[in-house]
Amino acid sequence: MELENKSAIVTGSASGIGLEVALTLAANGGSVTVADRNLSGAEAVVRQITEAGGTARAAEVNVTDKGRVAGMVEGAVAAFGSLDIFVNVAGFGFNSLIVDMAEEDWDLVLDVNLKGQFLGCQAAGRRMIDQGTGGRIVNIASTAANNARYQGGAYCAAKAGVVQLTRVLALELGEFGITVNAVGPGFTETPATVETSDEYRTNFLAQVPAGRSGRPTDIANAVLFLASPLAEYVNGQVIYVDGGYSAGKLTVRG
Ligand SMILES: NC(=O)c1ccc[n+]([C@@H]2O[C@H](COP(=O)([O-])OP(=O)(O)OC[C@H]3O[C@@H](n4cnc5c(N)ncnc54)[C@H](O)[C@@H]3O)[C@@H](O)[C@H]2O)c1
Repeated sequence: MELENKSAIVTGSASGIGLEVALTLAANGGSVTVADRNLSGAEAVVRQITEAGGTARAAEVNVTDKGRVAGMVEGAVAAFGSLDIFVNVAGFGFNSLIVDMAEEDWDLVLDVNLKGQFLGCQAAGRRMIDQGTGGRIVNIASTAANNARYQGGAYCAAKAGVVQLTRVLALELGEFGITVNAVGPGFTETPATVETSDEYRTNFLAQVPAGRSGRPTDIANAVLFLASPLAEYVNGQVIYVDGGYSAGKLTVRG
């Protein structure tokens, strides 16, 4: 088990991609703190992990709250003795034309999707520096970081910010043996996307060379690689896990 004796925090892990990341890290030997603002959901994930023979605990956190984020890191260290892997997944999509967007909606999207990742990286980075044993930080970005999306102004801006946050942190933390990378999912089937209209889905999937949408396991496997010893020399990178969507425009198939 490649993550044996590694303590990992996964934010946003009561649902969707984060849930699958938590299951995957635990299945590979990690001791996982399932952190989410939805505590009962996090506790259900912990039960799933422990019933499968893994090690996990739940933590209630709002990633926009600096004090709660610090408490989340302290709690993981108190329970498992260290913090070795930190995965920033908590986030949500939001659609609005920029000309129609309310200022408070802009602030909320940026607060959760970008500031939340800053606060988590800061708290985890400080702890990992103090520990002196290196570490792994993986931030969940999106293809929206690079591909402008109609009605996606705040979300695209936030996710582009996540990519640059990741690169800057890679420069700043590399000397401590801490790597900071991002995974950029394409359209992935989760509770957050279940209500996507058939029209959007069909139009979107027509641009995906793989011809299917992503599964949470597709994303979790990339996170596992970046969190594992195999990725020791990978730093400041974004792996887009999107069936080839962001490679270019698919005008002719076959
Ligand atoms: N599903 C996709 O197609 C897709 C594509 C690209 C990127 N992403 C990104 O992946 C991440 C997970 O998305 P998902 O589809 O699994 O969504 P999801 O809604 O299934 O899960 C998101 C989880 O984050 C938690 N969360 C939200 N705000 C929080 C906060 N302030 N503090 C703590 N927890 C909070 C929620 O309670 C939920 O458990 C997000 O960052 C999203 O932007 C998703």
